[in-house]
Amino acid sequence: MTDSNADRHLVIRGLRVAPIADPTREILQGIDLDVGPGEVHAIMGPNGSGKTTLAYALMGHPAYVVTGGEVTWLGRDVLALSADKRARLGMFLAFQYPTAIPGLSVASFIRSAVNAKLQGIDKNPDIDPTDSIKGGVSMLEFRRKMREKLALLKMDEAFVSRYVNDGFSGGEKKRLEMLQMAMLEPHMAILDETDSGLDIDALRIVAEGVNAMLNPDLGVLLITHYQRLLNHITPDVVHVLARGRIVASGGKDLALRLEDEGYGPILREAGLDIDVPDDALRLDEPAALAH
Ligand SMILES: Nc1ncnc2c1ncn2[C@@H]1O[C@H](COP(=O)(O)OP(=O)(O)OP(=O)(O)O)[C@@H](O)[C@H]1O
Ligand SMILES: [Mg+2]
Repeated sequence: MTDSNADRHLVIRGLRVAPIADPTREILQGIDLDVGPGEVHAIMGPNGSGKTTLAYALMGHPAYVVTGGEVTWLGRDVLALSADKRARLGMFLAFQYPTAIPGLSVASFIRSAVNAKLQGIDKNPDIDPTDSIKGGVSMLEFRRKMREKLALLKMDEAFVSRYVNDGFSGGEKKRLEMLQMAMLEPHMAILDETDSGLDIDALRIVAEGVNAMLNPDLGVLLITHYQRLLNHITPDVVHVLARGRIVASGGKDLALRLEDEGYGPILREAGLDIDVPDDALRLDEPAALAH
């Protein structure tokens, strides 16, 4: 594999995606994106525009079928890889709706994810994750790293003994995502923020977590409804997604304009006749954030 800088960009060209149940009804209708290492790209857009579909398609969710276009990263045809291989290649997707796994502790869950990634995309048989002499991470080393990341994220150590998402609050689910990401040290993170139930605490956890992890090797695709999140995480590029297409891209000022004007004017400029109230964006914001 070559390791040129271009390879380290997540490049999405003309991506078209439909639900597997109805492959003729394309949700994404030609998405172009280029996320380089160290860059934070924010994707905003009204409800139902295709943001979550984009995140799922990038991780190979089985409910979606790619009907056109290509995605390359690290010299690989990402769309040809299984979801598992994409993760082992260093992509991370924080799920919009994580499921609960009663009986499995946060520590065990993260340890198996870290171990699975150790063997790399081609499952190097010389690496035995359970054997620290053969490239595995010893329990001691794992615990040390976990403590380090918990401290980085200002999280309580007791958290890792709890069962995955079992009775977790919205904020705790976000903490789990951030801890998982910190431990897996991905090079491309795709974060999808749910449109409801994300209170000011959860928003702060995501912002602080991502900021603590930003580094020149990490590319971030941050899908969000909340302009205010972008006051805490400074995006390099902001894209507006509507009706399955990116209709505008710009700097942080684009997010500020959206906060000011809502989606209406920008969508009309793009020639889209979408019935979105101009203050839709503000109505989306949790009340607690309005102050
Ligand atoms: N698996 C699916 N099967 C059928 N339709 C789907 C499926 N997933 C998404 N859709 C439809 O595609 C459109 C885009 O959905 P998506 O969840 O990607 O939007 P979104 O931009 O994430 O919205 P929100 O802001 O509400 O999170 C919606 O009309 C949705 O109903
Ligand atoms: Mg969504």
